Amino acid sequence: MEMFLLVKILTIFTAINFLCNKFSGQIPEEIGGFKSLYILNLSNNAFTGAIPRSLSNMRKLESSDLSVNSLNEQIPAEFAKLTLLSFLNLSNNHLVGRISHSTQFSTFPKSSFEGNKDLLGPPLTTDDIAAGFSPQPMFNGRRFPNSGHDQIIGML
Ligand SMILES: *[C@@H]1O[C@H](CO)[C@@H](O)[C@H](O)[C@H]1NC(C)=O
Ligand SMILES: *[C@@H]1O[C@H](CO)[C@@H](O)[C@H](O)[C@H]1NC(C)=O
Repeated sequence: MEMFLLVKILTIFTAINFLCNKFSGQIPEEIGGFKSLYILNLSNNAFTGAIPRSLSNMRKLESSDLSVNSLNEQIPAEFAKLTLLSFLNLSNNHLVGRISHSTQFSTFPKSSFEGNKDLLGPPLTTDDIAAGFSPQPMFNGRRFPNSGHDQIIGML
């Protein structure tokens, strides 16, 4: 019922806001079929489950606000390939894993990702911490001042 309503509404608008706590369950995969949608605001609902991979089919998408829901699992890698996306807010969900780097995802502000307890990587956490590297590598039990990974490999 809710999914039907969602799809029905999406056929009418190219920009859409669903205001506050009316929708629950998964965001339907069918959403990706709305290829001319350029603003998607599903913020402040009760959506659960993963962000649908099909979102990456929405090539015109410039703004996506999925904040304040209960979305979980990893952010689909395909989602980071939406080249026109200039605004993103995934904050306050239950997303996990690493934020895709070397895409515009790492250029979004920290507040686009905050409030997801198990999300890692820039801009949320630094790469060193996310990758589990010690920021100051140890060598023979002594800290190597200013040594980067290249130098350590050179020593071995
Ligand atoms: C999305 O809608 C919420 C209201 O539910 C609003 O507070 C928020 O600013 C909107 N996001 C954008 C990017 O316009
Ligand atoms: C994202 O949404 C949160 C509300 O959950 C807000 O505090 C934050 O400023 C927003 N970030 C951006 C980049 O709009």
